Amino acid sequence: MDIVQDPTVPQGNPEQADAAAAPQAPRIIRREDYLPPAWLVPRVSLDFALGLQRTRVSAVLEVARNPDGASDPVIRLNGDGLTPLSVRVDGEPNNSWTMDGADLLITLPGAAHEITVVTEIEPAANSQLMGLYASNGMLCTQCEAEGFRRIAFFPDRPDVLSTYRVRMSGDKGLFPILLSNGNLAASGDPGDGTHWAEWHDPWPKPCYLFALVAGDLVANRDSFVTCGGRRVDLAIWVRDGDLERTGHAMQSLKNSMKWDEETFGREYDLDTFNIVAVSDFNMGAMENKGLNIFNTRYVLADPETATDGDYDAVESVIAHEYFHNWSGNRVTCRDWFQLSLKEGFTVLRDQLFSQDMGSASVKRIEDVRILRSAQFPEDSGPLAHPIRPDSYQEISNFYTATVYNKGAEVIRMMRTMAGPDAFRKGCDLYFERHDGQAATCEDFIRAIEDGAGLDLSQFRLWYAQAGTPKLTVKLEHGGGKAVLTLAQAVPATPGQAEKRPMPIPLRLALFDRESGSHRGEQLVVLDAEERGYTFDGFAQPPVLSINRGFSAPVAVERHVPEADLVFLAAHDDDPFARYEAMQSLVVQHLTAVIDGGDGASGRAAVGDALAAILEDPALDDLMRGELMILPGEAYLAEQLLIADPGAIHGAREGLKAWLGANLKERFFALHQRAGEAGFGRDAAARGARKIRTQALVYLAAGDPALAAGLAAAQYRAADNMTDRQGALMVLAGLDAPEREELLADFRARYDGNALVIDKWFSIQAASLHPNVLEHVKALARHPDFTLNNPNRVRSLYMAFAANPHAFHSADGEGYRMIADLIVDLDPINAQTAARFVPPLGRWRRIEPARSALMRAQLERISRVDRLSRDTYEQVMRSLG
Ligand code: TRP
Ligand code: ZN
Repeated sequence: MDIVQDPTVPQGNPEQADAAAAPQAPRIIRREDYLPPAWLVPRVSLDFALGLQRTRVSAVLEVARNPDGASDPVIRLNGDGLTPLSVRVDGEPNNSWTMDGADLLITLPGAAHEITVVTEIEPAANSQLMGLYASNGMLCTQCEAEGFRRIAFFPDRPDVLSTYRVRMSGDKGLFPILLSNGNLAASGDPGDGTHWAEWHDPWPKPCYLFALVAGDLVANRDSFVTCGGRRVDLAIWVRDGDLERTGHAMQSLKNSMKWDEETFGREYDLDTFNIVAVSDFNMGAMENKGLNIFNTRYVLADPETATDGDYDAVESVIAHEYFHNWSGNRVTCRDWFQLSLKEGFTVLRDQLFSQDMGSASVKRIEDVRILRSAQFPEDSGPLAHPIRPDSYQEISNFYTATVYNKGAEVIRMMRTMAGPDAFRKGCDLYFERHDGQAATCEDFIRAIEDGAGLDLSQFRLWYAQAGTPKLTVKLEHGGGKAVLTLAQAVPATPGQAEKRPMPIPLRLALFDRESGSHRGEQLVVLDAEERGYTFDGFAQPPVLSINRGFSAPVAVERHVPEADLVFLAAHDDDPFARYEAMQSLVVQHLTAVIDGGDGASGRAAVGDALAAILEDPALDDLMRGELMILPGEAYLAEQLLIADPGAIHGAREGLKAWLGANLKERFFALHQRAGEAGFGRDAAARGARKIRTQALVYLAAGDPALAAGLAAAQYRAADNMTDRQGALMVLAGLDAPEREELLADFRARYDGNALVIDKWFSIQAASLHPNVLEHVKALARHPDFTLNNPNRVRSLYMAFAANPHAFHSADGEGYRMIADLIVDLDPINAQTAARFVPPLGRWRRIEPARSALMRAQLERISRVDRLSRDTYEQVMRSLG
């Protein structure tokens, strides 16, 4: 091995590079600065000599000048904490290379060359979980967005597409299974205790889609025959002992493959599709070509250890990553500003899939709830950004609810305006035009315009403007006419003071009060600041149902007469609108109480509406369960200019207790009735489980002693995790004798099952118990707690940060605990640490005393030396 390391060239400290230390002058990447690459890499060959402590990587890059790029004799190969052990050009040792920070620069004389660089990496020491790392004795990779540069020097940008040949060799005992992208080309066993495998991926891809897995794994194998007659071998790889919990993931995968053929005309394109489950993972899952890598929590499920919600999450994440094969892999992103091109579209695709697999209306309500609780606060806070951002310091910080969920809503609006068939034509055109390319959001919009026959000129503003539009609604009646006046305002957001009106598609219906019916739904597109619409033939003032199905991601600001909301909550034939009416009824009541009103009449209206819902025989229980859920505290806070979390919590809990006491017999009867259904995964049985715990939640507020007994009985009799977790969640909030006993039982019963022990941490951190801060502090010292596993960190601290009465403790202790966590976690796992900053960033919209405490914690974090770029960017933007 020729070691040509030049001692005169500054190599940088790999330790420092590893933590991505915040630069003095922060590096700001701007969308408008995009330039095509000067060099392309049509072919790559990687050779891995695998070891947990040390892995040697030899990378051979066939590079060629890009005819569409600038002419530059220097090729930039990004690195992150790498040292070149050997650099060759066209087979000859090369001395022309230099380091520019962490990047390797090589001057090349001609138009095409072969570059070979050898590096050595330390997977076991990689706690950031980006690049090649060790998890439970196995090796795996995570390269999106910029992790490949931690494995090999390479132009780490998504517009450089290459075909990959990957050879790996390693100890047969440690790594009996060797996987990479594409198809297995060859394998061998030299008889010295090692073995090797060679994988070839025929589809050009950016390096963020590269993956490698080596470890002791077992597979659930199956197969799928595509619409074109290709037989695909499917395998879900897990640790021995987890095999029995992979059936739901496999079924979800086969359903996804079939659905994408039928609904989007997308066929799979390799002979193999592998999924690997790993327990140390920064996000949910990753769509690496032909080798998806998953967080175990989105693969493993059985009734004893997974809730109905967990089953749904597995189904949707399996679908999401599979759908990326077309929306993300075959057509990828030109640069990371285009992230929503693949993520927004793929989220929409997985949402539509889940709608088709189960209850479409319940799925829609759940998706809107996620948007409102996660994305609306983002859009109204210091981290607000358009679905196509204009600049970033660290791209990992832009894997957000805005890019993903609002991105999906924006494409859903195009579908609503075009209609499903025309939208499909637009999608077909997009895939046809851009197959094999690195595309932009603009390319997508143009394909939908051309294919679906829409004019989206003004609609493009949805990609450029941040902030949730506020829609004001006025309905007047007179002379047999109803006149509807709609107005919009897009609020100012950081860096965007002035906004222009956007096209807002609104599905609406006008109900006749007497008959309880309407004359058909209409689609109105509000494309100006204000417009009036007249509807003839209404002798009586109609009841307006607007933004049905949540056709646009806007906040409707309108004080609706209580009677109209009660009417819609009982009669609206659009299930989302019915849910919405119930939510509005509660929001109007609670905001009145928070404003100091006594709220008695509003409370009675909520009580009557809820009682009707509990007993409506026409409702299925899954939908009934949705209608029973009170708006969350984060969403309530969004309704107020300045929120007092204590007052919100008090008002909401007060209403719950009043409802629980007033409707006690009904909740009790519902709990009993729901307990009679046997276990099943069908909608009826799932619905029964959902309302069962919902009933318990209300009873716990209204009659804690009664609820404690019922919860303990439900826990003990449970033959599934949904009932057991629901009961324990209720008990964890009560000062009941069964609390300690059953928490201990749960801990012991699932000893060794990491995903269920995560639940044990979450249940306690999310509880309504008055001593939750003390509980969380004790749990952080528990032997099962570790900062090295992101699932465990999130199970304790995300649950805590999302628990308003704990996080917003008036003395600021909750803020201090989250800030301590960020500081401690940042050097270990910067990406995960940075995700805890946004809860503190809400300070501007919180009452003054708490606001000052939150800000003080952000300032304390900002003074820490050597913060990661991830955390530094989030803290600075939050301070504003
Ligand atoms: N592309 C992945 C998804 O489906 C997101 C992802 C997985 C990711 N792991 C990551 C993003 C690590 C950033 C860093 O949606
Ligand atoms: Zn995705």
